[in-house]
Amino acid sequence: MRFFIDTANVDEIRKANDMGVICGVTTNPSLIAKEGRDYKETIQEIATIVDGPISGEVKPTTLDYEGMIKEAREIAAIHPNMVVKIPLTADGLKACHQCAKEGIKTNLTLVFSASQALLAARAGATYVSPFIGRLDDISEDGLELIRTIADMFSVNGIDSQIICASIRSPYHVMQCALAGADIATVPYKVIMQMVHHPLTDQGIEKFQNDYKKVFG
Ligand code: G3P
Repeated sequence: MRFFIDTANVDEIRKANDMGVICGVTTNPSLIAKEGRDYKETIQEIATIVDGPISGEVKPTTLDYEGMIKEAREIAAIHPNMVVKIPLTADGLKACHQCAKEGIKTNLTLVFSASQALLAARAGATYVSPFIGRLDDISEDGLELIRTIADMFSVNGIDSQIICASIRSPYHVMQCALAGADIATVPYKVIMQMVHHPLTDQGIEKFQNDYKKVFG
């Protein structure tokens, strides 16, 4: 399983990229709005940091096919690494299908069921993004959805890649890897939670103390 970072914050992207652990970026309208910067300028800066797929979403107010495909073409033109993020709706599937015909890569987002994931794959989605945390929030099992989609794609020989989204903890990340997901898109905070372990910190402190006692 590979890692993308789920943020539009360029400092976080730079730090995660410098550690060598990420190979792509996902953004969404909420993450872009949080940064309060120009959309195109933000995406262009991200593309200078990470040489890998960068998901940029169509506007949340654009719900019709014509609007989505127009924006998809504009997003794809920003940089060769762009992937157009499209919500899983009937118009979104139609836009996904047209993008596939035009060679534009897509990430079908707001996926909450295996049947939605299957439709996305059949419409030609490059990536499908099931949201784990938001299912957990309503007392459903987000990780079980990842297991189901991974099995279903494997049994049916489907090429669309699974991006586990709405990840809230290192536990989510590990379970996604065990379930056979292709990618986890992880917030910077969770990446750092994965880095740290109290025994590592204690170990460094002990080595320092032992070393200093003898060598000063
Ligand atoms: O990028 C989509 C997804 O990862 C959002 O996560 O935490 O807002 O449910 P969250």
